[in-house]
Amino acid sequence: MNGPRVLLGVAGGIAAYKSAELLRRLTESGHSVRVLPTASALEFVGAATFEALSGQPVQTGVFADVPAVPHVKLGQEADLVVVAPATADLLARAAHGRADDLLTASLLTARCPVLFAPAMHTEMWEHAATQDNVALLRSRGSVVLEPASGRLTGKDTGPGRLPDPAEIAELARLLLERPDALPQDLAGRRVVVSAGGTREPLDPVRFLGNRSSGRQGYALARVAAQRGAAVTLVAAHTAELGDPAAVDVVRVGSAAQMRDAMLAAVKGADAVVMSAAVADFRPSALAEHKIKKGSTDPDPLVLTKNPDILRELVGGREPGQVIVGFAAETGDADGDALHHGRAKLARKGCDLLVVNAVGDGRAFEVPDNAGWLLGADGSEVELANGSKALLASRVWDAVASRL
Ligand code: CTP
Repeated sequence: MNGPRVLLGVAGGIAAYKSAELLRRLTESGHSVRVLPTASALEFVGAATFEALSGQPVQTGVFADVPAVPHVKLGQEADLVVVAPATADLLARAAHGRADDLLTASLLTARCPVLFAPAMHTEMWEHAATQDNVALLRSRGSVVLEPASGRLTGKDTGPGRLPDPAEIAELARLLLERPDALPQDLAGRRVVVSAGGTREPLDPVRFLGNRSSGRQGYALARVAAQRGAAVTLVAAHTAELGDPAAVDVVRVGSAAQMRDAMLAAVKGADAVVMSAAVADFRPSALAEHKIKKGSTDPDPLVLTKNPDILRELVGGREPGQVIVGFAAETGDADGDALHHGRAKLARKGCDLLVVNAVGDGRAFEVPDNAGWLLGADGSEVELANGSKALLASRVWDAVASRL
């Protein structure tokens, strides 16, 4: 394997079992992964699991394979270090520069981006000692993810769950694409993101829908939360995506429901991003019972225009609120995608518009995205092809600079 070299640190908590799935995702994306478990991590998952999935040896201490000097070399040669789960004890040792095993020694020699994904009980996460350690690690440039909320080991719930392995893998890829993608520049801000495609019901079993997977909106929510914002994600229909960690998710179906949820959520928000694919039209009549095939030709479908949520949000914008729209354009005889994007920005009145050129398998239902970010101030930034999280990080850069 000659992909990026990733060190996967695993600390001793019950969430260690999820590191096997993360390892699998990282190796399947072409990364060369060396696993560095702590001795306590091996109480939860056997070394054989990590060795088989990574194809590389597993050691915990600094006295194995001494001639190769692994406690210095592994960190020096890494392109990325991910520690998942990072327990309270591991964060404390890392914050204080301890080097009492191979993982912590490697953290001291690594000069690449470092991503900690904490997992612990809520009390331990919220303890001043842990919070101080997190702040210290962040001040030195490490990324410490906000944990997810939900069920912990026992019956208790609260913040402290390990984010989904898929989410950690997505953010790991983001840091490889762009090491400075997750600063804490949205701390103290509240943002609202819409995602997915609305479904406009025809009868109790049918709807008019669209191809939006919600991936771009979820990436926006995820990146904002990890940059410190309090995030509300208003999600219409999406592919099967796990809830982003530390994000408040409100589920809606139709454009009308999305409008109501957005109008409620944006009160007092610093920024709003409309990345949802909102249906422009809905069936004029909603049949109470399933429409039967019958023996005659069906009635033509009569449609009614939906409200334009983005324009309404712009109309009711609070002072200082930054509003971002999205436009998926194909280009036609009147002009290319960018030409249509500029016209749409003027028409919608938002501060920023992300323009995606779609068609030919681009943007929809795929992990990557590209386009342009147009500003009402005349600015125009090309968004090079990369992960949807990378595009999200560029959008938040532009939002943060306008707040
Ligand atoms: N949008 C919205 N409400 C609608 C339709 C769209 O808020 N009823 C938002 C989308 O979330 C997106 C932006 O408006 O941020 C542009 O969506 P798009 O469908 O491209 O715009 P339309 O106004 O429908 O333009 P057209 O159909 O002419 O391309």
